[in-house]
Amino acid sequence: MEFNVIEASLEKQNSGCIVVGFFESNGLSSVAKKLDPASIDYIDTLLKSGEFEGKIGQTLLLHPVPSLLPRCLLLMGCGNAAEFDEHRYKQVIKKAITTLKDNGLKEAICLLTQLDVKSLSSCQKAPHQKTHHLNDIDWKIRQAVISIQEMLYLFEPLKTKKTPPCKLDKILFQVEKNSELANAKVALQQGLAITAGIKATKDIANLPPNICNAKYLRTQACELAKKHSANMTVEAIGEEKMAKLGMNAYLAVGQGSQNESLMSIIEYKGNHSDQNAKPIVLVGKGVTFDSGGISLKPGASMDEMKYDMCGAATVYGVMCALAQLELPLHVIGVLAGCENMPSSKAYRPGDIITTMSGQTVEVLNTDAEGRMVLCDALTYVERFDPELVIDIATLTGACVIALGNHISGLMANHDALAEELMTASEQAGDRAWRLPLTDEYTKQLDSNFADMANIGGRTAGAITAGCFLSRFTTKYHWAHLDIAGTAWRSGKEKGATGRPVALLTQFLLNRIAKQKNSTKH
Ligand code: BES
Ligand code: MN
Ligand code: ZN
Repeated sequence: MEFNVIEASLEKQNSGCIVVGFFESNGLSSVAKKLDPASIDYIDTLLKSGEFEGKIGQTLLLHPVPSLLPRCLLLMGCGNAAEFDEHRYKQVIKKAITTLKDNGLKEAICLLTQLDVKSLSSCQKAPHQKTHHLNDIDWKIRQAVISIQEMLYLFEPLKTKKTPPCKLDKILFQVEKNSELANAKVALQQGLAITAGIKATKDIANLPPNICNAKYLRTQACELAKKHSANMTVEAIGEEKMAKLGMNAYLAVGQGSQNESLMSIIEYKGNHSDQNAKPIVLVGKGVTFDSGGISLKPGASMDEMKYDMCGAATVYGVMCALAQLELPLHVIGVLAGCENMPSSKAYRPGDIITTMSGQTVEVLNTDAEGRMVLCDALTYVERFDPELVIDIATLTGACVIALGNHISGLMANHDALAEELMTASEQAGDRAWRLPLTDEYTKQLDSNFADMANIGGRTAGAITAGCFLSRFTTKYHWAHLDIAGTAWRSGKEKGATGRPVALLTQFLLNRIAKQKNSTKH
């Protein structure tokens, strides 16, 4: 699919189907100024006949009729103008793409980015959030590109019969004023990079666990670094090295599996970044299959535990987006790969393990393996003297119970970092919600035999998991994203979502703006 941004005058562009939004209440006036008089008269007649009212989701495709309608036109019903919020905006964009696709059209000029998007969310907002971002051309273009690519995504490398390629191959966004053109072009590049990152994440996450293991993650990391060899390097830590480093908790999880545990570390340094800048470190849980181990999971939907590497897949996707945009930042991405399997060599409930940090952990459930892997990875990254660390993990079923499949759990030991992530999550439409990490919860991890247990009982499971990790992150500013509910969809539409690549990329983009401001002052 080719995307581009074009100037405000339509005459210069004479091919492609024009896609316009139409509000129910505004009648013809909402499209009048965008079309030529002949088309307006024709549409007016149609409106009077009651054929098209502009209800949300309604579509009317008008093929060119010489003299009446010089161009192919797709009218998109947008419902009531006052109710047109970000969800409806994305809904209309997606519907437009399906309609164009189903009608075999090749090219479109999309005017939907000119619609007025209202902020209707009744939710609590991050304190310093920019309130008008929904009407920025940047936001509208980024979201349009992301929504369109989401619609068109297919995962078919392992099917012998492939869907024939989609005929629709060119979408042009028209700006309302030429003064928006420069911003719109930057936003388009950002949207394309975020989309490429999301696709990269989905593609590795959707692979089966017999293909995508820790070694496969390393191969992907190396390929990416090869592609961006001027800015990227990869280092891999295997079991031997982990043993030397005392990463016993990480090793314990993988010891029941035939597949070697491997932590792949991708380092990116942008050309124009401050060469002495401390790195932003992203750590992704990369359990390529979580059977539960000796504390075996029940059979239903166990296949979905191939998605237990979505944290690592997210880190990989963000590194792709970052490199594509050549951002002037120093970022280190860690893919903490391993597999949790039962076997005679597997770790067991009752085992007490000395972690890399020196703290001891009593294993009460081998299915709470993510925190075992992450605690050592989080200790390992201390050596980078990080500016901040964010871990991303499909960590707890409890987080899915708390927030469902819509919002990721966010926990942090630093308020400013949590706020930055909240702001980015709202700007990106990739939402997160902060949960508390306080001492009362930490007590649930007390053990009679070790410094802590690896589980904290039935209540507040997402938080006690966060508390567990917080014991290993005291040396730096840290945030934790629990994406157990948001990283993939179950059921008929089963598949990875590519979340929270958009959130994290937005966070990084905001960081650059922040750096610029701080050097100015
Ligand atoms: N990978 C799972 C978490 C998970 C469960 C994600 C369901 C998505 C859907 C994690 O390793 C796990 O098994 N966590 C346990 C922890 C428990 C034993 C304290 C859980 O949530 O049940
Ligand atoms: Mn588990
Ligand atoms: Zn897991």
